[in-house]
Amino acid sequence: MAIIINEETGLFQLITKNTEYQMKVDKYGSLKHLWYGEKTGYDMEYLLNFPDVGFSGNIYEAGDDRTYSLDTLPLEYSCEGGGDYRIPAVAVTHSDGSSALDLRYQSYRAIKGKYGINGLPSVYADESESDTLEIILKDTCSDIEITLKYGVIEKLDIITRCVSVTNNSADPVTITRAASLCLDIPHGDWEWIHFHGRHAMERQTERMPLNHGIQESSSTRGTSSHQQNPSVLLCSPDCTETSGSCIGATLMYSGSFQTKIQLDQLNQVRLVMGIHPDMFRWELKPSDTFDTPEVILSYSGCGMETLSHNFHRVIREHVCRGKYKLAERPVLINNWEATYFDFDEQKIIKIAEQAAELGVDLLVLDDGWFGKRDDDCSGLGDWFVNEEKLHGGLGKLAEKINAMGMKFGLWFEPEMVSENSNLYREHPEWAIKIPSRNPVKSRYQLVLDMTNQEVREYLFDTISKVLNSASISYVKWDMNRSICDWYTPCLSSANQGEMPHRYVLGLYELLERLTSAFPEILFEGCSGGGGRFDAGMLYYCPQIWCSDDTDAYERTKIQYGTSFFYPVSAVGSHVSAVPNHQTGRVTPIETRAVTAMAGSFGYELDLNTLSESEKQEVKEQIIRFKKYGPLIHNGSYYRLSNPMKDKFAVWEFVSENQKEVLVHSVIFHTEPNHTQYHIRLRGLLPEINYRLAENGNIYSGSALMNGGILLPESWGDYAPAEMHFIAEN
Ligand code: DGJ
Repeated sequence: MAIIINEETGLFQLITKNTEYQMKVDKYGSLKHLWYGEKTGYDMEYLLNFPDVGFSGNIYEAGDDRTYSLDTLPLEYSCEGGGDYRIPAVAVTHSDGSSALDLRYQSYRAIKGKYGINGLPSVYADESESDTLEIILKDTCSDIEITLKYGVIEKLDIITRCVSVTNNSADPVTITRAASLCLDIPHGDWEWIHFHGRHAMERQTERMPLNHGIQESSSTRGTSSHQQNPSVLLCSPDCTETSGSCIGATLMYSGSFQTKIQLDQLNQVRLVMGIHPDMFRWELKPSDTFDTPEVILSYSGCGMETLSHNFHRVIREHVCRGKYKLAERPVLINNWEATYFDFDEQKIIKIAEQAAELGVDLLVLDDGWFGKRDDDCSGLGDWFVNEEKLHGGLGKLAEKINAMGMKFGLWFEPEMVSENSNLYREHPEWAIKIPSRNPVKSRYQLVLDMTNQEVREYLFDTISKVLNSASISYVKWDMNRSICDWYTPCLSSANQGEMPHRYVLGLYELLERLTSAFPEILFEGCSGGGGRFDAGMLYYCPQIWCSDDTDAYERTKIQYGTSFFYPVSAVGSHVSAVPNHQTGRVTPIETRAVTAMAGSFGYELDLNTLSESEKQEVKEQIIRFKKYGPLIHNGSYYRLSNPMKDKFAVWEFVSENQKEVLVHSVIFHTEPNHTQYHIRLRGLLPEINYRLAENGNIYSGSALMNGGILLPESWGDYAPAEMHFIAEN
């Protein structure tokens, strides 16, 4: 049983295979957080013992007990008022203008299965593998109720959390913040790892000790952003890939978010995560409920590798959906870096013919096939094929590509509009802008108001028409700017603060409609690469274009950071031309291939431009990817080096039965007279022997894990290597 409740003591325990989460109602009805970590099976309240801390006030009922303060206790869900000066998780403005809440325990409900959230993506699991606990807290003074929801997937060591705020009073209130997660950690030394970056350089890792005060990672861009990812790790200072304690949290949300971590006056840690409160106001009418997005949580007592495996499994098996959730993905060729906007039907056919000959499964026609779009200054919103470029339309083109034995896919940027477009000329009011102000343009484009039902209908109809007009098997859903100028005529002036969240709800509604209407189509997410790489988008699109940087060296770092939370199958990754279009760097084609194989593999160049021997290599790479695909996507992923600081990147895939192992590596720069680099494999069976396919040598699992193996000698820069081990017998 994953949920244990002791009604007498008020102790709630959420138990997973290797972890335990505890909270407890105290004599005043406050819900204290006691523990998240290893299984203890013991009430951890004994660790809480607070002195009278000056300037930390006491709730009225505590009388003269100066030791009971909400400012010092670890709380399950913090709020403004009540004398807790740390980060509040929730705040409302009542009808009298005051903004205090004082939340006390009311009741609980435990049920089999995992709760869902109206209009928002969430982890799903059936009744045999999941449990839900709901705890209701109520404000002492108003009829505001907070329901804390916990989903427990025992076998995966996963706990999810979200919150519902209900207004049972007769007057409306305004919610000014409603975090999905508040996690107080009363003891221990902690560091944090977050994932920062910029366009074409996403999810760089940064590990820092916690400073007293507040540290933050967030986005106010309307999307989860290139700059910060809605995922965070707290880890003990000694935490490595294979040892030490760590807690991971990822927010299943694609809009503005905030992660705040506070190291308080007593060296306690508070982690609060959810919709960015600066980008959020919500009017809650009488009897209404507001649901926050969900946070997925996991704890590992044996390092970050196990934590990542937990997240990979939950995202792959309980977040991603549809036909392609676990299926092998087609090897694709995308024409973006091959042609940019400069293409016609003949050029595309030529690229397709060569790709088909080399074994590619799917051709993706990227930006520029619609409206009047010869550069990025016009055409967005006009989702009608440009017959000047593509004579005979998409139907004909798709037929020809299908006749080559390949499937056909198409790029869209549904949320955007160019001022120079028929759509904008007909419906300028559909673009987000503040009346009387000039809107900010980015990549020359404006954003459509996704809170507007008419806009969503238009997009559903026009996109559906295109998808029905030809044999289309794949859609790339792009989004190429951050959002500002928040204003919508669909909301009253008092409620404009709801718009950023309503935008995300509108986006999710449209994605849900389209993915349900076209269940055979593989949807790939994209936002100028990985600017909206989050578990929310992965609920609709099982893969996301990881970065607009296709340079193999940079990709080792981007994909390293991405791998902490997101599974390899979710990572769109392509071999592109050299010199690389983002960095000018030249890397061997095999280096580009092994790097792209740590994802949903494809090509993004005109294969006709390759030499005969390179074409032969491409053919073999595709055969190899098809052979290794099930191991790469279904196996466990191991980070064997840290390319942010090591001189090489090495990563490993191990099959579920631990009998097949694939190691890929890139040595960044060859040094003269250098002894070979050495790495230790992980996740093997120690007692059995493995044969290295490349030379037939046999090693025991224990030797490979304890003694390790030398990386093959390198020559030149960015030297790739592959080692494929198969268990003997
Ligand atoms: C940004 C994407 O990340 C690229 O792959 C490409 O689709 C361009 N947009 C097209 O405008």
